[in-house]
Amino acid sequence: MKKVRLAILASGSGSNAEAIMSWAKFRLDTEVVCLISDKKKAYALERSLKYNVKSLYVKKEKNLSMLDYDKKLIKELNEFKPDYILLAGYMRLLSGAFLDTYPKRVINIHPSLLPKYPGMSGYEEAFKSNDEEFGCTIHFVDEGMDTGEIIIQEKLKRIKDESFEEFKSRGLKLENSLYPKVIEELVKKFFKEEAL
Ligand code: GRF
Repeated sequence: MKKVRLAILASGSGSNAEAIMSWAKFRLDTEVVCLISDKKKAYALERSLKYNVKSLYVKKEKNLSMLDYDKKLIKELNEFKPDYILLAGYMRLLSGAFLDTYPKRVINIHPSLLPKYPGMSGYEEAFKSNDEEFGCTIHFVDEGMDTGEIIIQEKLKRIKDESFEEFKSRGLKLENSLYPKVIEELVKKFFKEEAL
């Protein structure tokens, strides 16, 4: 049976990457084929060892343009023939060249109810706001900063007097459970389209 091949890009701790790898571990129709990081010390790289997922650090040399780095990334990724590229705390924008290589196949998770609070500080900004709800968004990636077409959003209610750590930890827990669910739907869709 064909397995849907998932590649993960991660720059940091990798809790979402781990949620995906742990979900995929027992699936007969899905496989995480690699985890690539632009950060040598990303904890995500270590997490991949537990799941026997091939991991790779792809260095961004200072003089390398965004486009040239993405070309380097594409070259590495293509070795693994991925069907989907999943961004899990990957802290770089992607070029048009990258996105054209995997049209509608690059997905991101973001820690806010987009279009509110795009960028690096989703939880911080939501926490500082007076919003009664916060949450996360999973979306297709385009060239903008968290501007791609939204696939799903899930919300949580603010709890009075909650600390930032508690707030963020509830949010991250939601992210970690939502990402695999969305991938499961994408995998179903992938097989349906293949059958047509
Ligand atoms: C998550 O909040 C994700 O939404 C954002 O970066 C964070 C990564 O966390 N894009 P982790 O590395 O998956 O633990």
